[in-house]
Amino acid sequence: MSELYLANPGRYDSMLYRRSGKSGVMLSAMSLGLWHNFGDVDRYDNSRQMVLTAFDNGICSMDLANNYGPPPGSAEETFGRIMQQDLRSHRDELFISTKAGHLMWPGPYGEWGSRKSLLASLDQSLRRMKLDYVDIFYSHRYDPNTPVEETVGALIHAVKSGKALYAGISKYPVDVAEKAFTLLREAGVPCLLHQLRYSMLIRDAENGLFDLHRKEGVGCISFSPLAQGVLTEKYLHGIPENSRAAKESGFLQVEQVLPLVGKVQKLHDIAAERGQTLAQMAIAWQLTDDRITTVLIGASSPAQILENLKALNNTSFTDEELKRINKILDEPPFWNAGA
Ligand SMILES: NC(=O)c1ccc[n+]([C@@H]2O[C@H](COP(=O)([O-])OP(=O)(O)OC[C@H]3O[C@@H](n4cnc5c(N)ncnc54)[C@H](OP(=O)(O)O)[C@@H]3O)[C@@H](O)[C@H]2O)c1
Repeated sequence: MSELYLANPGRYDSMLYRRSGKSGVMLSAMSLGLWHNFGDVDRYDNSRQMVLTAFDNGICSMDLANNYGPPPGSAEETFGRIMQQDLRSHRDELFISTKAGHLMWPGPYGEWGSRKSLLASLDQSLRRMKLDYVDIFYSHRYDPNTPVEETVGALIHAVKSGKALYAGISKYPVDVAEKAFTLLREAGVPCLLHQLRYSMLIRDAENGLFDLHRKEGVGCISFSPLAQGVLTEKYLHGIPENSRAAKESGFLQVEQVLPLVGKVQKLHDIAAERGQTLAQMAIAWQLTDDRITTVLIGASSPAQILENLKALNNTSFTDEELKRINKILDEPPFWNAGA
């Protein structure tokens, strides 16, 4: 039997809250994602302690998707169990997301962006999480074979039917994102957040998307801020057992990690001079940027979350530090997305 959970009364004291675009919604500057380490293959008590550690330190934004696990769906079930067991009376303090778009169930409706797929998936997600509604429902990826009007229409329906409070998109290219933002705005359901991969090592969003968000008043939630763990000390001396790169169910390839070790070591040295770990510096680097509403971290232990939260203690950089960091980031080798 797990021990009784009592929420930390000081949980809002050390967190920053930032407004999402031009909306009324404030989000914790850091969010917790449940992509890895919350599935049936993982230890429930560790997953539970990670969610509670985040909540107890002011992280109110929890990010899920239909397919998170493994197996797909099980991260939502784990989260539903934690909601029932511990957080039921705190529902209104939480900002919970889910998404649909990646492969979830067999057949033509189990993925991509049709109205059929999105709305069926949202119903399934609500059942797994034992929730009446989610705070934000995202189209998880752009579907080039479905008219964007149809995908966005499903998001609008989700909001108008009360199953989601806000709509969001994830990983949309700039031209389709612009169209989606317009359609959503015209329907009276403005896009709250665009979810993007962004870190010191992966900066594609700087080529137009950030400018578009500003113009449209849309917030940005940046995922994989630690490049799945590469922007930490953990791979500096090889591939540790149990790390994401070593796991069969992980999405990080050893071939993506190894070429970057020298570059990561140089960033680590700057972090050490600042009195931070590299993970803390990589998060702080994003928190100095007002184009980012909330930095969406992942973790495999409560200790990692506690370490990463300390990024909030030092989010200012000197011009000299930024110059040195940019020089390192601008030099090869670069992240290999296709490894
Ligand atoms: N929209 C999308 O398509 C999409 C795609 C990807 C992710 N996301 C969202 O973004 C969230 C975060 O993504 P992510 O998990 O890739 O984020 P991340 O923060 O870049 O990586 C998290 C991983 O880094 C390692 N780590 C974290 N803190 C550490 C520390 N202090 N010291 C050493 N290692 C540390 C852990 O890996 P180990 O297991 O090796 O310990 C942890 O699981 C996901 O959960 C999901 O919600 C969305």
